[in-house]
Amino acid sequence: MPESPSTPDQLTLLRPDTGEEFAMPISDGSIRASDLRPILLGQDLPWVLSYDPGYANTASCRSDICFIDGEAGILSYRGYPIEQLANNCSFEEICLLLWDGELPDTETLDNFKQLLANESVLSADIVEMFDGFPEGAHPMSMMSAALPLLGAKYPDADNVLNAENRRTQMLRILAKCSALAALAFRRFQGLPAVGPNPDSGYAGSFLHMLLAKPGEELELSETVRKAMDALLILHADHEQNCSTSAVRSVGSSQVNPYSAVGAGCSALHGPLHGGANQAVLEMLNEIGTVDNVNVFLQSCKAGDRRLMGFGHRVYKNYDPRAKVIRDLCHEILADIKGDPRLDVAQALEQAALNDEYFSTRKLYPNVDFYSGLIYSAVGFPPEMFTVFFVVGRMPGWLAHWNEMLNDPEQRIVRPRQLYGGPELRDLPPASRRR
Ligand code: SDX
Repeated sequence: MPESPSTPDQLTLLRPDTGEEFAMPISDGSIRASDLRPILLGQDLPWVLSYDPGYANTASCRSDICFIDGEAGILSYRGYPIEQLANNCSFEEICLLLWDGELPDTETLDNFKQLLANESVLSADIVEMFDGFPEGAHPMSMMSAALPLLGAKYPDADNVLNAENRRTQMLRILAKCSALAALAFRRFQGLPAVGPNPDSGYAGSFLHMLLAKPGEELELSETVRKAMDALLILHADHEQNCSTSAVRSVGSSQVNPYSAVGAGCSALHGPLHGGANQAVLEMLNEIGTVDNVNVFLQSCKAGDRRLMGFGHRVYKNYDPRAKVIRDLCHEILADIKGDPRLDVAQALEQAALNDEYFSTRKLYPNVDFYSGLIYSAVGFPPEMFTVFFVVGRMPGWLAHWNEMLNDPEQRIVRPRQLYGGPELRDLPPASRRR
């Protein structure tokens, strides 16, 4: 392909049957799909639509929050590389970075932590609600149900067009989502609820609510607290992934934010998205030993299985988060206890990275490949892994929800379709229908 001298600011579409030319201005590397509307296709068909299953080549919005260079394997939050943020910041700092565009000064951060602490307690009716959830219900199903119901307690949340009120609700959701997640875990395990311990920070208080015995202080290793903090940061945002797109889409109807993030939670539950971290552990358990790695990879190459935790719609290089989590995994497993599945995971990774089926398709480890090994080492069942993803991603969902409502170009999401069903036809009389 000839090296283009510069980026054109316009394309021109030629209609060969009429000789008409249609200008398609290019801005920010994109053309507007609505610029196809003047191209009319005759009385049976509307104007030309763009067809893009899974929106693989469609920008749904403008955003300043997160940037991914999939070819280079770069991820940044408001311009800062994820590796630097995960190793040098707290989750609370990252929440404010995503929401406000800059890292907070000490006073702003302390005030934010106090506001989170003030909102960290759940009312008795919300706590008791979990006792009514079906026995053995998946914690992600509990989260998807609890988030919208939490919103039912705050009818002022419906006033989504008021910026100050949006901030109030964002803070309340962030503060309470870790308590909901801990309740889901305690219900799943048949354990009584434990309240927050805000003095230990967001990650520390979250682990306290998850693991402490009622009335006792949790003995928490700093390695584990730091690992949870870093994992929350690494999951905090990721541009227009399936669940964030769901939050934006549902939020575009101007429903309250509790329902919008509830939709994101449901999307994240899927095994192709956030549910992959649970699927990875189940896959490692099934493979069992390093000796079985090659047979398993053959089944993936035959199309019978997916190598869970591998591949990505945007990354065609190593997911930078996977590298940080892999290093965290080594730290935690060295500090707490070994896990033979780490050997299987590493053997699987090396075999896949050196196999042309995966390399030609640019399939690399993603954020979900190693995270489950850490959660498992701390003592959590695989059903909880995606719930940790929800808590980490919450600030990102809320940042995008707020940005969407601030965007003058944004409208209710309502795509078109390409219809392939029956032509218009008359209904036969009831006698003939039976
Ligand atoms: C997350 O979008 C985000 O940002 C998500 C996320 C976030 O932070 O929000 O990064 C979090 O969801 C990470 C992804 C977690 N999911 C998994 O690990 C599940 C396994 N991976 C895949 O199913 C898949 O890679 C996806 C869903 C992640 C991406 O799917 P795409 O982009 O739609 O790619 P595809 O399904 O069209 O596959 C392209 C080819 C196919 O082969 P061919 O038809 O060309 O022969 O690659 C193959 C696929 O069969 N392929 C895989 C594979 N992933 C793709 N083959 C084996 N194992 C895999 N994991």
